[in-house]
Amino acid sequence: MKFFEGCTALITGASSGLGAEFARQLAPLASGLVLVARRNDRLEELSATLRSLHPELEIRIFQADLADSGQRYALADWLEKEKMDVNFLINNAGLGDHGHFDSSEWNRVQAMLDLNITALTHLTHLLVGRMILSGRAAILNVSSVAGFFPLPNMAVYSATKAYVTSLSEALSIELRPKGITVSALCPGPVPTEFFDIATRPGEEARASHFETFPAFVVSASEAVRDGLRAVANERARVIPGALLAAAVAVALVIPFCIIRRILAAKAASF
Ligand SMILES: NC(=O)c1ccc[n+]([C@@H]2O[C@H](COP(=O)([O-])OP(=O)(O)OC[C@H]3O[C@@H](n4cnc5c(N)ncnc54)[C@H](OP(=O)(O)O)[C@@H]3O)[C@@H](O)[C@H]2O)c1
Repeated sequence: MKFFEGCTALITGASSGLGAEFARQLAPLASGLVLVARRNDRLEELSATLRSLHPELEIRIFQADLADSGQRYALADWLEKEKMDVNFLINNAGLGDHGHFDSSEWNRVQAMLDLNITALTHLTHLLVGRMILSGRAAILNVSSVAGFFPLPNMAVYSATKAYVTSLSEALSIELRPKGITVSALCPGPVPTEFFDIATRPGEEARASHFETFPAFVVSASEAVRDGLRAVANERARVIPGALLAAAVAVALVIPFCIIRRILAAKAASF
């Protein structure tokens, strides 16, 4: 994966799950990593482990709540001041909320919109100009297979991921002549902290997606490997796991009136 050799990658949501795995897989190749999330202790721990394995790697931590626009501006200013020229941006931080829309708490809905849509778009906007100047650069947006289907009981989440996939596809065309490849990673269920956090406080975790769709589950390391491969091969979109990729390809040619019935049947059993 030649592109990653000597790159400087900024990974949002690096304190757990896919974000931490991106850091682990890039560490042997990159020359610099910028790890961003709110939980500083987690970032410190990951950074110490990676530093002991790859002493030549420059690892920087930036603690930020990316839902806050002031902290996004502060991150961009700090990168400029520290002369960290990011040429690989991984917009990975994201949140879900599992349950009926009418009983959702507005704070959780707002947090999803702020992080999954606004923060991803704003951070890309803040960094893209300098990335273009660097000659060859890449952006990997972590979307979801949920972005292909309007999922009841994850309605806002799947709508935010439809936005991420759509934005990525358009930017992949727009930015390619300027030397930037843009890819959307669209995983199905991956065992991370995601579903625990998406479960509402006081509610029991329902039969998880891992139990409902065991054949579609991929590990974090597989999802990240497929995402990095898509970037290296300049692909606009990737769904990790051959079985899930095939199932989505089939579902996308089924008339939507049938998909709507399947989604309604699934929603009725919630
Ligand atoms: N796991 C799945 O099944 C699955 C499937 C499809 C797509 N995805 C997508 O994959 C991405 C990574 O999720 P994951 O599965 O790795 O879940 P995760 O383990 O819960 O990781 C989410 C990351 O986002 C960070 N984050 C959350 N709110 C933030 C904020 N306000 N500011 C900065 N960082 C914030 C968290 O760090 P802090 O809490 O420390 O800030 C954490 O590092 C998300 O975009 C998710 O939508 C996941």
